[in-house]
Amino acid sequence: MISGFPTIAAAVVILLCITDQCTAQTTNCSALASNGDCSFYDCLSTKFQCTANDYPLAYGRKHCLRYASESSCFSTGGQAWITNVSRCLMQSIVNSALYNDVNTTCDQLETFAFESHPRCYIDNGFCTDILLSDQCQNLVCIGNEIFTDRDFYTKQAIDQITRTAASCSSRISTFLLDARECSLSSPDHAL
Ligand SMILES: *[C@@H]1O[C@H](CO)[C@@H](O)[C@H](O)[C@H]1NC(C)=O
Ligand SMILES: *[C@@H]1O[C@H](CO)[C@@H](O)[C@H](O)[C@H]1NC(C)=O
Ligand SMILES: *[C@@H]1O[C@H](CO)[C@@H](O)[C@H](O)[C@H]1NC(C)=O
Repeated sequence: MISGFPTIAAAVVILLCITDQCTAQTTNCSALASNGDCSFYDCLSTKFQCTANDYPLAYGRKHCLRYASESSCFSTGGQAWITNVSRCLMQSIVNSALYNDVNTTCDQLETFAFESHPRCYIDNGFCTDILLSDQCQNLVCIGNEIFTDRDFYTKQAIDQITRTAASCSSRISTFLLDARECSLSSPDHAL
């Protein structure tokens, strides 16, 4: 029955749309985010119907898994940083307005996620545990073990880490200045 085909096709499309909306509204990734579980990104990708080339799988999951598998390259402080940053990045997404909006696009998720990187890095001790590790151990791990590809995301991520590191210098100077002011105000060390 030729004439029935468009009707069936339309019904299938409508059914798929309804199912997709359902997926978007009901998929709950928050427990995975609380645990810093890398499969959070699979959940996020499903929730927003992203492709394998979008942020959740192409960047988020990929680097989450890579940090986890290369964790032993890092110092103890670096390993704590990895755990805490992974959770911070996921929870930033879950706590954002985008997460609760069914119309959020995968590109919007990408922009938001990249913007949340520097704060999560810094709040969890990037300027000390990562930047100041002995013999640059942790920076070497990031360069040699994590961002080994030469793709667009990697270039963006390395640029961002460099800029984040640059923003540390003022914090480190502030820290040294505070330390100096402490010793200046102490009678024993008066100049
Ligand atoms: C998602 O799950 C968390 C606990 O895992 C729960 O607290 C929260 O209310 C759930 N959110 C929705 C929208 O169901
Ligand atoms: C999502 O988009 C649809 C269609 O454009 C619209 O009717 C709906 O209000 C939007 N929902 C939200 C939460 O913005
Ligand atoms: C990592 O998170 C744990 C638990 O929230 C906290 O106790 C610890 O101080 C954090 N570590 C760093 C380096 O921020």
